[in-house]
Amino acid sequence: MGQLKPCPTPKEGAVKISPCCWDNTIELQKLDFENPIVEIGFGNGDFTLWLASKFKNQPVLAVDKWHPGIRALIHKCQQRKLDNLYVFNLDANLFVEYLLKPNQVERFYFNYPDPFFKKRDIKRRLLKTSFLSWVAFKLKPRGKVYIRTDIPDYYEYVLEQLEPIKELFEIHKTFDEDLPSTKYELKALKEGRKPLKLLLIKKKDPQDLEDKEVLPLRAIKLPKVDLTKLPLREDIKDPQRGYFFKIENTYKGQNIDLIEIYVGEEGFYQHVFIGVFRTSDGYVIKPKSFAVGVRSLSWAVEKIAELVSP
Ligand SMILES: C[S@@+](CC[C@H](N)C(=O)[O-])C[C@H]1O[C@@H](n2cnc3c(N)ncnc32)[C@H](O)[C@@H]1O
Repeated sequence: MGQLKPCPTPKEGAVKISPCCWDNTIELQKLDFENPIVEIGFGNGDFTLWLASKFKNQPVLAVDKWHPGIRALIHKCQQRKLDNLYVFNLDANLFVEYLLKPNQVERFYFNYPDPFFKKRDIKRRLLKTSFLSWVAFKLKPRGKVYIRTDIPDYYEYVLEQLEPIKELFEIHKTFDEDLPSTKYELKALKEGRKPLKLLLIKKKDPQDLEDKEVLPLRAIKLPKVDLTKLPLREDIKDPQRGYFFKIENTYKGQNIDLIEIYVGEEGFYQHVFIGVFRTSDGYVIKPKSFAVGVRSLSWAVEKIAELVSP
C-alpha cells in the first residue's frame, strides 16, 4: 500500500482537520463540521467511500479503531482525492460523547456492529441504552440512525436497549433506502443470514445529558525523572472516578523518552504515547501522540509524573 501522506501541519492556535489523513499529532477539539454524516465501525471502508461520493457536499466522518482498515480507507481516500472524507482512529464512545456537538449530525450509520456473542462480553456491545442516548443528543432534530445487523439476537438486544429511551426516537423496524452491501453483509448473505434493519429518527433530546468538554492536554515540568520506577503492565486505578491506565512499555530516545499507555474511563480507552522531553532545566511530561483531552488522561499524566519523580 506504501506510505500514507502525513497530515498538513495545522496553523498556530487553529484546529484544522484535513481529509484523507492519518493524524497522530494534533490535539483534537470539538469538531466544527456542519451537517456531518457519521459512520461508526467502517471496517474495510468500502461503504464509507460510497457515502463520500453520494454526499459530496457534506462532510463524512468515519470512525474505527482497527488499524488495517483505517490505513486502507485513508489510502483509497488519497487515491481518489476525496475532499469530504475525514477518518478518525478512535473509540466510538469517545468520538460521540466528546468530539461531536449537540444537534450536529444529520445521519449516523452502523453497519454490522460487533455482536459479542459470549455472555461475559455482552457488556461490550456498542448499541446500548447509554450510547444510544448520546447518539440522540448529537443528532439534529429529525436526524436519522441507520442500523444493519445479521444477528437476530443483536437486533432484539438493540430494541430492548431502546425501550427505556423510546421517547427519544421514532423507531422503524426496517427501511426502504437502498444501501450497498458491506463486506460483512456479503459474508452473512453467503452464509445464509439475512440483513435486519432499523431506522431511528430523532424526536427529542435526552434530558439527563450534559455535553462533555475536551480539555487541553496537560504538560507537567519536573526537575528530574527516573523511568525505571514505572510499573509495567499493571492496572493503576482511580476506582471512585472509574479511571484506569496501564503502562505497556517505555522507549529511550535521544531528546525524548516515550511511555506507551492504555488509559480509559467507563466505556472506552485510548492508546497514547506520553513524551518525556529533555529541556535546558529539567523535563516536560505530556502526551506526544494523537490523544483526546479527557479527564482520565490528565489524571494518568499526573500519576506518571508522581511515579517518575525520584
Ligand atoms: C463486524 S465489523 C463491521 C465492519 C463493516 N461495517 C462491515 O459491515 O463490513 C465491526 C467494526 O466495528 C469496529 N468497532 C467495534 N467497536 C468499536 C468501537 N467501540 N469504536 C470504533 N469502532 C469499533 C471494528 O473495529 C470493526 O471494524
